[in-house]
Amino acid sequence: MAEHDPDDDNQGLALHRIGVRFGGLVALDDVSLRVPPGRTVGVIGPNGAGKTTLFNVVCGFVPPTGGSLTLDGRPLRPKPHQLTRIGIARTLQGVGQFGGLSVLDNVLAGTDHAARAGFAAALFGLPRSDRDERRLRDDAMEALRICGVAEYADVLPGGLPYAVRKRVALARALVAKPRLLLLDEPAGGLGAEEITELGQLIKGLGCAVLLVEHHMDLVMKICDDILVLDFGKPVAFGTPDEIRTNAAVTDAYLGEAA
Ligand SMILES: Nc1ncnc2c1ncn2[C@@H]1O[C@H](COP(=O)(O)OP(=O)(O)O)[C@@H](O)[C@H]1O
Ligand SMILES: [Mg+2]
Repeated sequence: MAEHDPDDDNQGLALHRIGVRFGGLVALDDVSLRVPPGRTVGVIGPNGAGKTTLFNVVCGFVPPTGGSLTLDGRPLRPKPHQLTRIGIARTLQGVGQFGGLSVLDNVLAGTDHAARAGFAAALFGLPRSDRDERRLRDDAMEALRICGVAEYADVLPGGLPYAVRKRVALARALVAKPRLLLLDEPAGGLGAEEITELGQLIKGLGCAVLLVEHHMDLVMKICDDILVLDFGKPVAFGTPDEIRTNAAVTDAYLGEAA
């Protein structure tokens, strides 16, 4: 990681002065952020701060009304269905699984277009199909193993505990072997111990992570840098220690509790 300069726009993802308006509502106002290779960058803020909107801008669900994005210094206009092809994978809030498919098949659904062409080939009995399918299944099993849920590969996800389903959702993102993983509220609905374990898992992944999360504790524990949003505006940026002692951050969160 030391060879990467976190201030170098030509490495990793960079958001430049992003703005998003929904009609008269300013959801993001002049937000800049870098996610360098291998680093874990958190975005926190009270409900309605604009965290999911920022996430959706990077995923290509919401076009920015101002500013721009770059990936390794090149302009990025993300399209949701092309993300895995450029090395970006995401999970969404909740679990988003197909109830009728096994855990393993749900993870396989996260493989990219080129890989799925292998599936099509399998359907039509084309020569390389067996090898392709075996490789994909190996990748999916490996992703489940990394997430500690390989034992559930053949089970339908519906009856599984929520924490397990969240891990399956993470495995589904990881099967694409992303260099940048986008997580929106991965700790949502989890208990304190499950959050600690999830933090250790995310920290050990090795890829860059953009972690959008309402709960400060997880973000504080695993992020290298943290951006704090309030009403769509950046109110602080820094290391966990810097953020912990920042008065503007305390104000934003206390304001929410009041
Ligand atoms: N599609 C949308 N249309 C209109 N307003 C939206 C839309 N998405 C989000 N908003 C508004 O933008 C603001 C930021 O929302 P959001 O990004 O979901 O915040 P967070 O994830 O931090 O809770 C909120 O006021 C929300 O109501
Ligand atoms: Mg949100």
